[in-house]
Amino acid sequence: MGPTLADVRPPLRWMGGKFNSRHVLRELVGLSVSWSGRVVDPFFGGGSTLSLFPASRFTVSDSNDELMNFHVACRDDSAALKARVSRFEDSKEAFYATRRMYTEKTADEDNIERAARFLFLNRTSYGGIYRVNRQGVFNVPYGGGGRFKIDVLSAAIDAHASRLSRVDLSTSDFGDALGDISSGDLLFLDPPYFSPGRRTFTRYGPEVFDFASHGALATRARTSVEGGALAVATLPGSPEVLSLYAGWKLLSARFSRRLPAGEVMVVGGGSAWPGLGIEIPDNEAEIGRLISDAARPGERV
Ligand SMILES: C[S@@+](CC[C@H](N)C(=O)[O-])C[C@H]1O[C@@H](n2cnc3c(N)ncnc32)[C@H](O)[C@@H]1O
Repeated sequence: MGPTLADVRPPLRWMGGKFNSRHVLRELVGLSVSWSGRVVDPFFGGGSTLSLFPASRFTVSDSNDELMNFHVACRDDSAALKARVSRFEDSKEAFYATRRMYTEKTADEDNIERAARFLFLNRTSYGGIYRVNRQGVFNVPYGGGGRFKIDVLSAAIDAHASRLSRVDLSTSDFGDALGDISSGDLLFLDPPYFSPGRRTFTRYGPEVFDFASHGALATRARTSVEGGALAVATLPGSPEVLSLYAGWKLLSARFSRRLPAGEVMVVGGGSAWPGLGIEIPDNEAEIGRLISDAARPGERV
């Protein structure tokens, strides 16, 4: 049997993307058999949510307009997107020429052309990073590495287009996206991983996602959960950040070793996770002990 649709790698490489952690995340939450409501993801990134939750309704967004333009082009006209993508050749010269056209935003290009350029730059840039300067100009250098293979990308675009076919997509800040949550929605929160005192990648756009942003997110998430939503959040293993979620459950300390302090999974909306996890204390020292004493990566605490 070939891979399922959920297991076909998304076309974009995305910093902090959860596709490689999908098995452990599905197992941890145990939602793969029981969930059938709407999933809301306000930090959609490369789109691995669609491989994590077997829901039939998704409402997803991200503040990166170029990223969301790519997903819309893929959903609405994958054939045209594949045709445009197949015109690119992976070389340093083509990369810099494309980057120049992309940043100059020439007037005659349509959304499909921008999406094709976005994918080409994503697959050939250094580390697949999407980084812009304060003026919003994409400035990542060429990386090479043989990651721009037309046949592989065409198959990935087809699979992603199928997964996206009934997905509601928009560009918005998480604050707006979380303004319209209903009882019974499941929120998947995978924000940039700011940890006080640590160097982590938080600059996905001109704005940095800092500790104040984490505070605002936690406040929104709590309001949604009080209104009857469920929430699953992947967060940096930082006592300061986790203290914002005191009273929620720590489901896994360190589901991966990717960051020095690990990545953790927390859940809110209690009754959906009976007997799972450990309640997060409101004291940072205790949270620090909880994280360092906790189970091996991928195990429930
Ligand atoms: C860790 S990544 C999400 C990765 C995604 N779950 C995946 O598996 O590909 C965080 C995302 O948050 C987005 N982001 C940053 N600041 C934001 C904001 N204020 N509101 C909404 N999205 C934001 C970034 O563009 C980035 O795509």
